[in-house]
Amino acid sequence: MRMVDLIEKKRDGKELTTEEISFIIEGFTKDEIPDYQMSAFAMAVFFQDMTERERADLTMAMVHSGDTIDLSTIEGIKVDKHSTGGVGDTTTLVLAPLVAALGIPVAKMSGRGLGHTGGTIDKLESIQGFHVEISKEEFINLVNKAKIAVVGQTGNLTPADKKLYALRDVTATVNSIPLIASSIMSKKIAAGSDAIVLDVKTGAGAFMKTLEDAKELAHAMVSIGNHVGRKTMAVISDMSQPLGFAIGNALEVKEAIDTLQGKGPKDLEELCLALGRQMVYLANKADSLEQAEQMLKEVIQSGKALAKFKEFIANQGGDASIVDHTEKLPQAAYLIEVPAKKTGVVAEIVADAIGTAAMLLGAGRATKESKIDLAVGLMLNKKVGDQVKSGESLVTIHSNRPNVDDVLKKIYGNIHIADQGQSPVLIHGIVTE
Ligand code: URA
Ligand code: CA
Repeated sequence: MRMVDLIEKKRDGKELTTEEISFIIEGFTKDEIPDYQMSAFAMAVFFQDMTERERADLTMAMVHSGDTIDLSTIEGIKVDKHSTGGVGDTTTLVLAPLVAALGIPVAKMSGRGLGHTGGTIDKLESIQGFHVEISKEEFINLVNKAKIAVVGQTGNLTPADKKLYALRDVTATVNSIPLIASSIMSKKIAAGSDAIVLDVKTGAGAFMKTLEDAKELAHAMVSIGNHVGRKTMAVISDMSQPLGFAIGNALEVKEAIDTLQGKGPKDLEELCLALGRQMVYLANKADSLEQAEQMLKEVIQSGKALAKFKEFIANQGGDASIVDHTEKLPQAAYLIEVPAKKTGVVAEIVADAIGTAAMLLGAGRATKESKIDLAVGLMLNKKVGDQVKSGESLVTIHSNRPNVDDVLKKIYGNIHIADQGQSPVLIHGIVTE
């Protein structure tokens, strides 16, 4: 086989075989296929697309390019949740203990945040003592014993994806549905779960800005998952404004604790139930999505979900007393209100820009090397659709520096007050095939 012939075949819109796709990914991973040929291939895929079969083959070829995690010694059906990334998205912190409280094993590998998007590991590290550097044995033991553990990214997972993503970034080929879908799904499949629930975000703070693109991506990923024997479902959810009220690490831990007690923000709770019921259903713990939702509500009401969160924190070395004493979480030195400049209705809170405002305070990383401040962030006092009076606080800034002029400017530029405004639809659809 010669790479040049395969580039030509895809360029002309023909379907590649399983062997041809393996040849490309293996050769590229081993540096036998140079970047310039792989770039041309990515551009050919960008214009000619891939069939569902080709997408599944590309995904599995990338899975096999490196290590895979073997979770077979964990009892039960392992269901993973993946979000395509948003602002103030606290769902993993809520969902993990919530479904674990129903006996569903949560063996989660998580990452750190970058840019306007936060990461679950950073949030958990705002709990004194909590650590994610646990051995594989400890990880599996914890999941078998307590049904829940979170570990930082380990091993050499999907090196082909890492290399290809870097190349796509500089060759204008990131925005291709088959390439994005296979990239995300390869990482999820390598991480070892049996079933996958996807939260595909749409709107200003999301990777997919339009609903149409989000739907297409959701269908593509669900199709790949089901093609390769991992039951997969997706929820398409709004990310035009941040999720919940809190944006920032310790602030989001507190928000998760509120939500596990049934006292959280309405949108966060609704999304957690929508994703959670799919997880429960895919884990074969309920006969219907309605029954699954009922079970989730029960473990919130009974306090079992919150107790599971405490157990999880203690198991990984953290101070579980923060759950009843959230004032023990890192606190910022200055609380600064952002008063509305006029009376009206909040018409827009631009998610990515507000995420960037939180990043300017130190809640997120501008680059991979940046240090973050776990205490700082933003608390929204108003959401889209809320009435507001001139002078009323829109946002409370939690800062460790007294001068926040840059943050104020960003917030005022991206929260729009008008005569009318409507709370956006949160769940745009469910994709099961
Ligand atoms: N996120 C990924 O992991 N891969 C892509 O290709 C795009 C977004
Ligand atoms: Ca939030």
